[in-house]
Amino acid sequence: MAYLKVERDDEIVQIMIDRADKLNAMNLDVMDEFISVLDTLERDSSKVIIITGSGQKAFSAGADIEYMNSIGSTEAEKYALRGHEVLNKIEKLEKPVISAINGYALGGGCELALSSDIRFASPNAQLGQPEVTLGICPGWGGTQRLLRIIGPARAKDLIFTGRKISADEAFSMGLVNKIFPSENLLSETRSYAKLIARNSTFAIGISKNLVNKGMDANLDTGLKLEIYSWSLCFSTKDRQERMKAFVEKK
Ligand code: COA
Repeated sequence: MAYLKVERDDEIVQIMIDRADKLNAMNLDVMDEFISVLDTLERDSSKVIIITGSGQKAFSAGADIEYMNSIGSTEAEKYALRGHEVLNKIEKLEKPVISAINGYALGGGCELALSSDIRFASPNAQLGQPEVTLGICPGWGGTQRLLRIIGPARAKDLIFTGRKISADEAFSMGLVNKIFPSENLLSETRSYAKLIARNSTFAIGISKNLVNKGMDANLDTGLKLEIYSWSLCFSTKDRQERMKAFVEKK
């Protein structure tokens, strides 16, 4: 791969966007590589996925402005569709995805983080949706996912002003889960991923799906889905082994 560095450490997979000279801006090739990696992750035995950016400055500065400067509406639609395809895959992957935000997460970079389940940041992280400063609206799910994560008033504040917010402000809005010192961000993220990896991948996948579905469903539908999903867990060997081990005090 030219732009994604994928490393496996047991059941933890780290995807690093490796385009530091352009602050990890995501052109079409980066998106194609994401699709190919995510297709593999859907099927393999990995348990937790970490996404981060290479270098000290950026997680990702977003969609590629140089490319966008050269295109019209038809290509823009294709670019948006590709962005949505990648981010929807991340959101629907039945495994937890953690973004380790090690610097700028702007525009598509912020939207990439929004499609993850958990967001950790270093103190130098700056997040934002600066699209309106370029004459466009967020195009890779920003208007919809930001709204669901931080609420409409805060989402509109960030989108209308295009301002960059610090890791502290992002934390205070619930946009990032935790801040770690820069030098520990990846090791702390990996330790956290290992904590998750000890648990049942099936049960985590089904829980992720329930929380995601619950965001758009009414309470009654969400609760019914939970009942069916909960009962489905009882059909797995993993559940039998885990409960048996508890009862037999192993
Ligand atoms: N697309 C393409 N290239 C980008 C980019 C993007 N989104 N963001 C940064 N780059 C490139 C710059 O053009 C520059 O390339 P060059 O060295 O070949 O000239 C390189 O990355 C470094 O960026 P630079 O602007 O020089 O760094 P900086 O530290 O002065 O500023 C930012 C950092 C993030 C504030 C600034 O790069 C920026 O505002 N980027 C755009 C962010 C954005 O609007 N994203 C949303 C897109 S919809």
